[in-house]
Amino acid sequence: MDNIVIVGDGAIGLLYSHFLSANNHISLISRKAKVINQYYYQDSDKSKIINVNVLSNKNLEQLKPIDTVIFAVKAYQVNEALAQLLPYLSPSCQLVLSHNGMSDLQAILTKLKSQHALYFLTTRLAGYKADSNTVVHTGDGESILGSCNDIATQGLPDIVKQLSAIPDIRHSKHIALIRWQKLLINIAINPLSAYYNVKNGELTAPRFSTEVFNLLSESCFIANKSGININLADTLATAYQVMTDTAFNYSSMQQDITHNRPTEIDAMCGYICQQGAKVGVKTPYNQYFLDMIRHKKSAN
Ligand SMILES: NC(=O)c1ccc[n+]([C@@H]2O[C@H](COP(=O)([O-])OP(=O)(O)OC[C@H]3O[C@@H](n4cnc5c(N)ncnc54)[C@H](OP(=O)(O)O)[C@@H]3O)[C@@H](O)[C@H]2O)c1
Repeated sequence: MDNIVIVGDGAIGLLYSHFLSANNHISLISRKAKVINQYYYQDSDKSKIINVNVLSNKNLEQLKPIDTVIFAVKAYQVNEALAQLLPYLSPSCQLVLSHNGMSDLQAILTKLKSQHALYFLTTRLAGYKADSNTVVHTGDGESILGSCNDIATQGLPDIVKQLSAIPDIRHSKHIALIRWQKLLINIAINPLSAYYNVKNGELTAPRFSTEVFNLLSESCFIANKSGININLADTLATAYQVMTDTAFNYSSMQQDITHNRPTEIDAMCGYICQQGAKVGVKTPYNQYFLDMIRHKKSAN
């Protein structure tokens, strides 16, 4: 049994904890002052207790040097979560980031030691927190792990074995491309569903088609200028497929706005605007939704 630390007791942190605790010792780091049992629930099954050691982030000195850590936090929470864990990493620690949107990997790598291996894990698992300590598992799909530095590339097959209890996990040499593909699908769905306060499936209606097209056409253009080989027609087809597959769901950004929580808009449309500035291309459609979502308040 390996020791694995998971940072973040949100929906994804609890799903990873549930699966990985089958054959690993899991320490789950929470920001909550009071540490309580965590539960996993799917369909009509009885809820199951998740076999983890929950630790407040105020008591990290109780941890052994960390060999493997998964950051299951939102994109805008990664820097703070990493800063709090840095003193506790073993010299050859494996770090796994897992979030939607883009974070600045170069800035993260500069904070790590040369023997630290950095990975990125995308997932199509889905869930939500029914209460502060229960995750409801609502969706399945593959999880893909890729390396973000040379040392991680060498360790990729081994860490995929270590995390093999996550359903349908595989590794890929093309994680940058996969992250961009996922970013573009998120850009087609999250800002529009949050701004218009609609379920994902409603975005297939003709009244949204111009905005979907403009956002994706601009984002694909920036991806291509940034050296990422993404095709607009394929991206549009995938985006409409995901809207249909998740027709009755509200997107995470719509839910963040509804609950007056910060959104991941800076890591989505904001990232396209930043990349556009780097390559000297204006990005008015992403800028528009960046501004609108930053200022959007819950309608409730
Ligand atoms: N939920 C899904 O179905 C799904 C699917 C695919 C991808 N994703 C992506 O995966 C990422 C995580 O999503 P999520 O739904 O799990 O979000 P979430 O429910 O907001 O979970 C994030 C958790 O991390 C905790 N946290 C933040 N900073 C921390 C720190 N420094 N130390 C300890 N805990 C910390 C938060 O605590 P507080 O409660 O104190 O804020 C929160 O409980 C997002 O990027 C999301 O877009 C989600």
